[in-house]
Amino acid sequence: MWQGSGKFFIQLASVLLCAFEVAATARRLVVSPTTTFDVRSYGACADGITDNSQAFLGAWNAACSSSGDVMLFIPAGTYFLNPVKFTGPCSNVNTLTFYLKGKLKASTDLRLYDKGDEWIQFGHVKGLTLTGGGKFDGQGSAAWAYNQCPTKKYCHILPVSVKFMSLNDTIVYGIKSVNPKFFHFAVLGCQNFRASKMYMKAPEDSPNTDGIHITRSSGVVIHDSIIKTGDDCVSIGQNTTNVFISEITCGPGHGISIGSLGKYPDEGDVRDILIRDCYMSNTTNGVRIKTWQNSPSSSSVTNITYENIQMSNVGNPIIIDQTYCPDNLCDRDDRKVPSRVSISDVRYKAINGTSASPLAVTLNCSPGIPCQNINLENIQLNYVGGEPSTAFCAFARTRFSGPMLPLPCN
Ligand SMILES: *[C@@H]1O[C@H](CO)[C@@H](O)[C@H](O)[C@H]1NC(C)=O
Ligand SMILES: *[C@@H]1O[C@H](CO)[C@@H](O)[C@H](O)[C@H]1NC(C)=O
Ligand SMILES: *[C@@H]1O[C@H](CO)[C@@H](O)[C@H](O)[C@H]1NC(C)=O
Ligand SMILES: *[C@@H]1O[C@H](CO)[C@@H](O)[C@H](O)[C@H]1NC(C)=O
Ligand SMILES: *[C@@H]1O[C@H](CO)[C@@H](O)[C@H](O)[C@H]1NC(C)=O
Repeated sequence: MWQGSGKFFIQLASVLLCAFEVAATARRLVVSPTTTFDVRSYGACADGITDNSQAFLGAWNAACSSSGDVMLFIPAGTYFLNPVKFTGPCSNVNTLTFYLKGKLKASTDLRLYDKGDEWIQFGHVKGLTLTGGGKFDGQGSAAWAYNQCPTKKYCHILPVSVKFMSLNDTIVYGIKSVNPKFFHFAVLGCQNFRASKMYMKAPEDSPNTDGIHITRSSGVVIHDSIIKTGDDCVSIGQNTTNVFISEITCGPGHGISIGSLGKYPDEGDVRDILIRDCYMSNTTNGVRIKTWQNSPSSSSVTNITYENIQMSNVGNPIIIDQTYCPDNLCDRDDRKVPSRVSISDVRYKAINGTSASPLAVTLNCSPGIPCQNINLENIQLNYVGGEPSTAFCAFARTRFSGPMLPLPCN
């Protein structure tokens, strides 16, 4: 009885509080330069308990069906939010700013999420800006135990925190994400996407908590961000071209990866990738290209440049691994068939710092299709243990210039 009435008073108090907020914002709207849709006017409540998905959708639908430059505004406060999809097209809208000042908190009830779906989706919009300094809290710690992907090759994936799907001309600026159930952010089928001043954090041992996963996209810029997480800081999947990644501070995490590629049939190519001016510390890998053995069809990775990357205590600072086939995910027959992903025109330039393992450079290419034109220039990677660092190369056509530590391996 006590519990029941206590809860009732909390709800009553928050309804009153929220009703008051609606009145207060109605007055503020008038001075706004763009048309602003404040979620509180649609019934949102920052009590951290009430589900806001219908209120946010109400504000989104109003903004999306409006015209010109519009803003959806989420003020400071903690908003509990069940899974929601913010989708377009928003035909008469020129730019749509999703201004997140507050913190959004996900439900921990996995039954609420459809299989393979995300927590929050932005889809099929042109000219979206997501900004405001706010935070997505995926509340992942309760879900991580249910992640089967580390032990099953074809697994049901847990919800990604924020999925950007089929967007054109997107800007994401000054946004935080903590403890996603799966990836922090996924960029899928997007063209011209720029993210900067991002902050992501999850425990080092949280499974598959990639910072930003990019796939089937082109024209992607990721700049000036801090990513501390349990998996890749940035991962680049199939059919992705023209990506520029710079000034990323990564670690803990698994580094910046291209791949895994070659897991599914009919994957597209990855090309024209530039990764520069990054700092990695305490990561399991630095810059990595990873492809599965026994890939069902062929594809290519070409024109990849890594430049001015600082490593501090990094497990595998430079690694190409085309024999990816972890014991628990592959059978013996997989291992007999080399990867059918071809890798060519890769440049590693000015990469220095410390390696946590003696093997600082691994170029383990496919015996079926050797790597072509792998260039290393000015590499200085010292093993933290004191002995000289080493390199391993297999089926890799390489060229070296400038100072080289470890010594070249062919
Ligand atoms: C994005 O651009 C592509 C072509 O460049 C177009 O087919 C698609 O409809 C556009 N999507 C949106 C949401 O504007
Ligand atoms: C790659 O993406 C492009 C553009 O989104 C699409 O037209 C094409 O079908 C995709 N190719 C593959 C192999 O997925
Ligand atoms: C290689 O990729 C870069 C972008 O990283 C691009 O500017 C350049 O034109 C590409 N080179 C070729 C030969 O396609
Ligand atoms: C890396 O790990 C070491 C030892 O665990 C720790 O002392 C150091 O602070 C870490 N560095 C960073 C930048 O987190
Ligand atoms: C590593 O590279 C950076 C930038 O090129 C340079 O400032 C630094 O002195 C280099 N450190 C070592 C140990 O070579």
